[in-house]
Formats: sequence, structure tokens, C-alpha cells
Amino acid sequence: MLYHLTTYGCQMNAHEAEILAGVLEDAGWTPAPGPDEADLVVLLTCGVRDTAEQRALGKMGELKRWKLARPGRLLAVGGCVPQQPGAVERLSAAFPHVDVVFGPPNLHRLPALLETALATGQPVLEILDDSGAIPDDLPVRREGKVRAWVTIIHGCNHGCAYCIVPAVRGRERSRQPRTILDELSGLAGDGFREAVLLGQNVNNYGRDLPAEGRRVDFGDLLAQADQVEGLARIRFTTSHPANFRRRFLEVMAGARRVCEHLHLPAQSGSDRVLRAMGRGYDRAQYLELLKQVREVLPGAGVTTDLIVGFPGETEEDFEDTLCLVEAARFDGAFTFLYSERRGTRAAAMPDQVPPAVRGERLARLNRLQNQISLELSQSLVGSTQEVLVEGPSDRNPARWAGRTRTNKLVTFPAGAARPGDLIEVRITLARTWTLEGEAGGKRS
Ligand code: SAH
Ligand code: SF4
Ligand code: F3S
Repeated sequence: MLYHLTTYGCQMNAHEAEILAGVLEDAGWTPAPGPDEADLVVLLTCGVRDTAEQRALGKMGELKRWKLARPGRLLAVGGCVPQQPGAVERLSAAFPHVDVVFGPPNLHRLPALLETALATGQPVLEILDDSGAIPDDLPVRREGKVRAWVTIIHGCNHGCAYCIVPAVRGRERSRQPRTILDELSGLAGDGFREAVLLGQNVNNYGRDLPAEGRRVDFGDLLAQADQVEGLARIRFTTSHPANFRRRFLEVMAGARRVCEHLHLPAQSGSDRVLRAMGRGYDRAQYLELLKQVREVLPGAGVTTDLIVGFPGETEEDFEDTLCLVEAARFDGAFTFLYSERRGTRAAAMPDQVPPAVRGERLARLNRLQNQISLELSQSLVGSTQEVLVEGPSDRNPARWAGRTRTNKLVTFPAGAARPGDLIEVRITLARTWTLEGEAGGKRS
């Protein structure tokens, strides 16, 4: 029996798709080249913004014809959308052709749920409490061979006014340090070169662990991960500015494998908006953290997330965001139009910003950030960077691609490089989001 898996959303979902693939293959399913050949299609949905949710819902609707085209086909829908309060009822009413609805905490149960659906001929809807944790010992079928994702903490204890994630992913649950370190060693043994530690807020790692594990915080975990032989690089995402401690920077500075890149979502540059969002820091505190980053880790890459058009955002608030972007000089930013999410505090706030105003602000913000990204990229022309080789570039397979320690994408003629090599690349050309270079010597 053949399955096809489509994933939306963040790296957390993408990694859970790898676990789900492992679980399905363990249960006897094999990957199909595409949905047409598949007996089972699984969608792992994302609900962080309306656009993401609509994409998944649109696909669910489209797949009705796919399902009816051949008797016995199965359609399963998981990920974050079904986990929203009241969503299962809405989904099963709107999409009666869906056979199984499940969520992140019970993704390993999909084979059993499919069997029940087949045996009864009825839809199976199993949504567990969001506080469950995916078991540690599941098989994983990883997408790449160079970089591997490792979840270190599930859930999020912040309650940012606009965000659906705490409602669908529950409270913070850290995995045991030993389990994580064993997984890292196993990855090194399997030939992986880079591990990316994942969590909605990795900086709170360990805070919820029982007494004997509590001494391990994020800094300790990073320091221990840095000792794992065989890995060349360690990254992590996402950091919450309110929970980032100077000590983490010191650990990074003293580490060999931990890369000098931080993703520090600012969301806004206006104190009024930051307060309304409930982010737990103001503009000055954010800039102070950046100053520390640049003192302790000179040359580190810093990227961010910004939301435009949060309810009540005035032109002046928006200009504060532009001004933060100028002061911070981020290497890159993911910029989002505010999207109203059912059940969040922000959805009930007055003064929703008209869509045309949101759009115009987003365009201005992107223009400014793109110019800064380009300037920072250009400043690297002529320098030599350590690049971890990934393989042929998606855009132009004639060239190969890899990343600098600061997480910038570099393409270069493949030459003798092999995926997983650490090589020196001399940067010859800068674009806004990518660099081009010439491959030099091999480091390891
Ligand atoms: N836990 C991470 C990321 C959460 S989701 C963090 O706190 O940084 C990724 C990004 O999506 C957020 O940083 C935010 O910029 C954006 N986002 C979340 N909810 C949103 C909404 N309702 N509308 C627009 N953007 C949103
Ligand atoms: Fe959402 Fe805020 Fe938690 Fe990030 S920190 S996942 S934006 S609630
Ligand atoms: Fe989306 Fe869920 Fe990630 S809502 S951003 S897939 S945690």
C-alpha cells in the first residue's frame, strides 16, 4: 500500500512528517511518487495564519475527487488545524470524505486509526489533549542526509495575543536531556553533519523538567550537545527575546559546533504594540539584547519575524517598526501580515487595521529590509566563508548549495565537493538572500 504525505507550516511540522513517515513505513506503507498513485494521502496542516489554513482546507476539498476516483482510498488530516478548539466538528461537517482526523500528540497512532476507519467504514476522529508528548522511540525517516531536526521542547507557555500555537500545541514539555543527547550521537553515527534543535521557544528548555533534570537549562544542553563527536554544526530555533539569557551567548561563544546564528523574533518595534501583543519585552530591551549578541558573538547572523497591521497599529507604531529594523540591521526577516485567528485575544481587539493599509505597510517594510539584507550580503564579497555542503541547489542544479555558519545560503560550482563536506568558499557575488562563490579547500 502506497502513501503520500503533504506538509504545511513550520519545521516542527516538517519534522513530525519525518516521524509520521517512519511510523507508516514501519506499519508496512511505502511512499508513492505522487497522490495519483497513492492509496493513502495524509495532510499535516498549519493554522498559524489564515493563508496557511486555507491552503490546507482547499487541498482537503480538492482531494474529494481523488478519493472518489478509486474505492478504498484513504484520506487522513493531522497537524495543527484539527487541534484548534471546536475544529474537529467543523472539519468533519465540511469534509465528510475525510477518513481520519488526528493531531500532533497522537500522530504515531495513525496506522491503528486507519485500520479502524477501514474496518468500520466510518470516519475516525481522535484528538487528544494538547499536553501529550510524541513518544521518544518512534522510527524516523529523515528527508535529508546532512541536516537533521531534533525537537527539544514541545508547546509554548507564552500567550502572544495574536497566536494560535499555544492553543494547538499546549504547555511547554521538554524532552529528557539524555534522550536528546543520545539522539544527537545516533545522528552523528548515521553520518549527519548538522543538527537543528527545535522548539517554539527553545530558551525555556528544561524549566518544566522534574527535580533531577531541572539543573539542565538551555545553556547546559547546548554545551553538552557541543561535545557530540561527529557532528560539525549545531543550530537551534526559535529563541524568544524575553527568555534569552546572556549566559546562552557565552556558551555559544565557547562552543565549537554551535553556529553563530540567532532567530530572534521581534514582531514589532512599537512599545505600545509589543505590550498589546503581550511579548514580555520592549524595544529598548530588545535592542539591548542585540547589543549583547554583537558584543559576545561579533559577526553573528541575526534574523527575525515581524508582524504588520496588528490591531490598533497606527502609522506611528509602524514607523517604530521601520526604525527598529534600521537600528537592528537584521540579516533577514520573515514579515507577515497580521492574520486574525479565531479564539485569540487579538481577534477581539478593536481597531483592526484595514487590509489595504496592512498591505502597503508590508511592502514598505520589505523594501527596507531587503535593502539592508543586500547591503549585509555585499559586505561579505571578497571574504572566505566556511560552508557546509548540502547538494545541488534547488534553483539551479548546475550549482551546489550550502550555508555559512551564520546561516546564509551560498551557491558555488560543485567541483569535488560532496554533501556533508565543510569547505572554504570565497564569496564573489551578493544577492538579497543568497551569495555566490568559488569553492576552495576542504576543511574536513
Ligand atoms: N514560537 C515562535 C514562532 C511562532 S509562529 C516565536 O514565538 O517566535 C512563527 C511566526 O508567525 C511568529 O513569530 C509570528 O511572527 C508569526 N505569526 C504568528 N501568529 C500570527 C498571526 N496571527 N498573524 C500573523 N503572523 C503570525
Ligand atoms: Fe506564539 Fe508567542 Fe508562543 Fe511564539 S512565543 S509560539 S508567537 S505564543
Ligand atoms: Fe503552523 Fe503548527 Fe507550526 S500552527 S507554524 S505548524 S506549530
